[in-house]
Amino acid sequence: MIPRREPVITIDGASGTGKGTVSQLLAKRLGWKFLDSGALYRVLALAAQKHSVATDNEKSLEVLAEHLDVQFIARDNAFPTIVLEGEDVTEIIRTEKIGNAASVVAALPAVRAALLSRQRVFREAPGLVADGRDMGTVVFPDAELKIFLLATPEERAMRRLKQLKEQGISVTLGDLIEELRLRDKRDQERTVAPLKPAEDAISINTDHLTVEQVVEKILQEIDLKKAFPVTSTLATEAV
Ligand code: C5P
Repeated sequence: MIPRREPVITIDGASGTGKGTVSQLLAKRLGWKFLDSGALYRVLALAAQKHSVATDNEKSLEVLAEHLDVQFIARDNAFPTIVLEGEDVTEIIRTEKIGNAASVVAALPAVRAALLSRQRVFREAPGLVADGRDMGTVVFPDAELKIFLLATPEERAMRRLKQLKEQGISVTLGDLIEELRLRDKRDQERTVAPLKPAEDAISINTDHLTVEQVVEKILQEIDLKKAFPVTSTLATEAV
């Protein structure tokens, strides 16, 4: 008999489509685990910087990825605390600089292969919401529900600008749009696991939707699919 695997919902999409916040809220609503796969690539980029490994040194990056000493410590109502080699890096990995370096190392096939099993171990009871670029296509191709989030570069840059302003960081909208375009291009054109919807993914345009509205749409899809028994959790869980 084929062993029963824990259910997975994949949420893929480009930067700034709201994947992270949507996935985290959805996981909370369902009472499921949450994987922020982008954080793994960001942590690797930071570790490379820390150990003076160049972002094009595929062999050394592969070794670094295989031995990455990283922990994700779950927190209530917040993204997990991320610890690299004993140091809390939760905030540091969110800069544009690390995001860009992450997308450079993420284009290397050996790095992606080295991080594959680390992502799959997040598949635990009662289920997993996995956020990334290739969750539905490569990491969890057998996921019960696959969502692909879309938003225009302008809308995504506006959201990012708001976040950065709240952190007291000043950047121009034009620069952000340009950076997003470059990162999208790199993520979409790489040879391994490029950013694209899985054939069986449901696309949702988030341009004029709040995070709660996107989560509601996904919950409706779960209801329509009736692929896994989550209804009782949903009925009792407050938003
Ligand atoms: O999602 P986030 O912006 O944190 O991801 C940072 C970078 O990591 C992305 O631009 C992308 O290049 C890479 N990434 C990836 N595959 C994933 C998640 C992230 O290639 N599953």
